[in-house]
Amino acid sequence: MAKITANFATACYLYVMSVAVTARVLSEHPYLSGLEKPITNIFDTSNYGILQLGNGLAKTPQMGWNSWNFFACNISEKVFKETADALISTGLAKLGYEYVNIDDCWSELVRDSEGQLVPDSGIFPSGVKAVADYVHSKGLKLGIYSDAGTFTCQVHPGSLGHEHDDAARFASWGIDYLKYDNCFNLSIKPEERYPPMRDALNATGRTIFYSLCEWGLNDPALWAGKIGNSWRTTDDIKDNWESMTTIADLNDKWAAYAGPGGWNDPDMLEVGNGGMTYHEYRAHFSIWALMKAPLLIGCDVRNMTAETFEIISNEEVIAVNQDPLGVQGRKVYAYGPDGCYQVWAGPLSGSRLVVALWNRCSKITTITVNWATLGLKSSTIVSVRDLWKHELVSLDSVSSFTATVDTHGCEIYVFTPVKVSSSSS
Ligand SMILES: *[C@@H]1O[C@H](CO)[C@@H](O)[C@H](O)[C@H]1NC(C)=O
Ligand SMILES: *[C@@H]1O[C@H](CO)[C@@H](O)[C@H](O)[C@H]1NC(C)=O
Ligand SMILES: *[C@@H]1O[C@H](CO)[C@@H](O)[C@H](O)[C@H]1NC(C)=O
Ligand SMILES: *[C@@H]1O[C@H](CO)[C@@H](O)[C@H](O)[C@H]1NC(C)=O
Repeated sequence: MAKITANFATACYLYVMSVAVTARVLSEHPYLSGLEKPITNIFDTSNYGILQLGNGLAKTPQMGWNSWNFFACNISEKVFKETADALISTGLAKLGYEYVNIDDCWSELVRDSEGQLVPDSGIFPSGVKAVADYVHSKGLKLGIYSDAGTFTCQVHPGSLGHEHDDAARFASWGIDYLKYDNCFNLSIKPEERYPPMRDALNATGRTIFYSLCEWGLNDPALWAGKIGNSWRTTDDIKDNWESMTTIADLNDKWAAYAGPGGWNDPDMLEVGNGGMTYHEYRAHFSIWALMKAPLLIGCDVRNMTAETFEIISNEEVIAVNQDPLGVQGRKVYAYGPDGCYQVWAGPLSGSRLVVALWNRCSKITTITVNWATLGLKSSTIVSVRDLWKHELVSLDSVSSFTATVDTHGCEIYVFTPVKVSSSSS
């Protein structure tokens, strides 16, 4: 009995929300089967999941750390081991950051006489397997990097034509994740170059996360879902406001294609690397979480400031990213000078919504979100939780919600519809 009542209540919430739920959400949601067509399509997911890669990974976006944004080629096995230690000692591992990912420059410049990749002996005096064993002993996972071309971007050997040898070697070392870049591609279409590595990884029998780094050139959202667990949608991020905002907008375009099993990847986090302000980094992290982007930390986690740690350890923002519904949030409204007062939003499990108010102007301002923008009836009463303040800021918002947002700041909230007000028409 109690269960039926709860289901009925949930069904009512969903009905009053009239949130755009489309094929995927409808079919996966037990309470929605009786609903008619979605009323709006702001949260359209109809392009998702046509042919997802079936390796069982990426139910939620991947979380971890990667060496490139901070260290570039200046890597060592000591850095990877100390990073694993730091992920544990800071508590970041417990929050979900599990992958320790080696980027470019890890190998010798030539293959050995048997045509195999060889770890650079200066960088990995103990070998990659020893580092994998160490990382695994901490309960974490190790990622590596290669390229769907003749060379990597830093001109180490690439894997094109060596997919089976390289995948087998990675698996023998205990690798859990491969980032696969796009340099020296011989002008062969990515749709031809990326599947052989998928098949080679699969053939190893080891479950390995496959991260495509094709830079969004051939619109991978349209074809990569059956090939990889995530696909880059843009060129490399740079540690500045201009780059971060541009990339957010480019990645937004592909929202309807993301979902459990395969995610749009607007590149790794720059939080903590010094090129943006505190508020800009908070916006970066908030929007990446809302967009269901991979959360791959790109700073030196052995030496973070308190502000950096505060941002990347925000459990409530991480929970938005890892929400099991797995629908990418998106820009739903922009107004003001050059459209720089922005509302980004997306549906979450439990009939909730994530809503971000992002001030991309260079002056502090107030930003308002109207319920209509979110697909809510204006009479719906909503409780509003502020994920940076970690508190409920309203129990009974109706029709709209307004907040003051700092220059380049982003306030992010969870909206929980409570009921329709009695004066509802
Ligand atoms: C290989 O692919 C098949 C088909 O998608 C899948 O069922 C299996 O789990 C994959 N194995 C690995 C190790 O990824
Ligand atoms: C490279 O890394 C070492 C040790 O981690 C550090 O001492 C050195 O300053 C780094 N060099 C550059 C150019 O960043
Ligand atoms: C190959 O890489 C270059 C950049 O090095 C890029 O401009 C080009 O679009 C890529 N071609 C294909 C077919 O992926
Ligand atoms: C730690 O980071 C600060 C900047 O936040 C930097 O000045 C310092 O050199 C770093 N220390 C180490 C050991 O890398």
